[in-house]
Amino acid sequence: MIIMKKTFVFFLLFCCFGCTAENKILSTSIKNINIIEKASTIEIDIIDLESFDSIQILVNKNHSLPEDYEPKDLIEPNVSTTKKLFVREVLHDDLMEMFKEAENDGAYLSISSGYRSYQYQKTLFNNYVARDGIEAASRYSARPGQSEHQTGLALDIAAKSGKCTLSSCFKETDEGKWLNENAWKYGFILRYPEGKEEITGYMFEPWHFRYVGKKEAKKIFESGLTVEEYYDVK
Ligand code: DAL
Ligand code: ZN
Repeated sequence: MIIMKKTFVFFLLFCCFGCTAENKILSTSIKNINIIEKASTIEIDIIDLESFDSIQILVNKNHSLPEDYEPKDLIEPNVSTTKKLFVREVLHDDLMEMFKEAENDGAYLSISSGYRSYQYQKTLFNNYVARDGIEAASRYSARPGQSEHQTGLALDIAAKSGKCTLSSCFKETDEGKWLNENAWKYGFILRYPEGKEEITGYMFEPWHFRYVGKKEAKKIFESGLTVEEYYDVK
């Protein structure tokens, strides 16, 4: 389905806005392409949900990363963290800006988890299964290969105070509220919103933010949809 999007770029160039095709695949494809007409030129953004290094890569219970995938541009972020961790360099400028603006507004942020390797996620998931059983663990922890943290584009963000870290009450903290309202401006979206477990596969996580870039984050935030709903993917 996603490969077909690229084919449809050419199709769209010819039929443009007068196109009347209404099949489901085409409408899905159009959603993932932004067309901006400026005078006589047409700009097309292809949203690549498949390539491992794409900032829009889709990772969920149906879309896994290979065991040996590790991003090439991992760096230690120059913001507050609760431990030594790494994120993709591609999000770093926006991350710095977000933390600075949050602080100006009285929200003091710290990252508690960034990139996680396949092996680390495996240990984490197995420990949760041993503690809570597979059914319960699967609602809040991803199996190895299925965690967005392996992309280096997902962050668990906490209050510097430590209040409500990785807990649903984080949404009531100044930091949780600030992130919920403002993270999109810096390219980050709340990936597992409240009441969307059937769609995302995971319980509400008010601390888990996923970088998709400023343009896409704005559109996803304004739609009020999850990533799966917005791109019409499972
Ligand atoms: N807590 C999220 C779903 C993860 O394990 O990646
Ligand atoms: Zn997370």
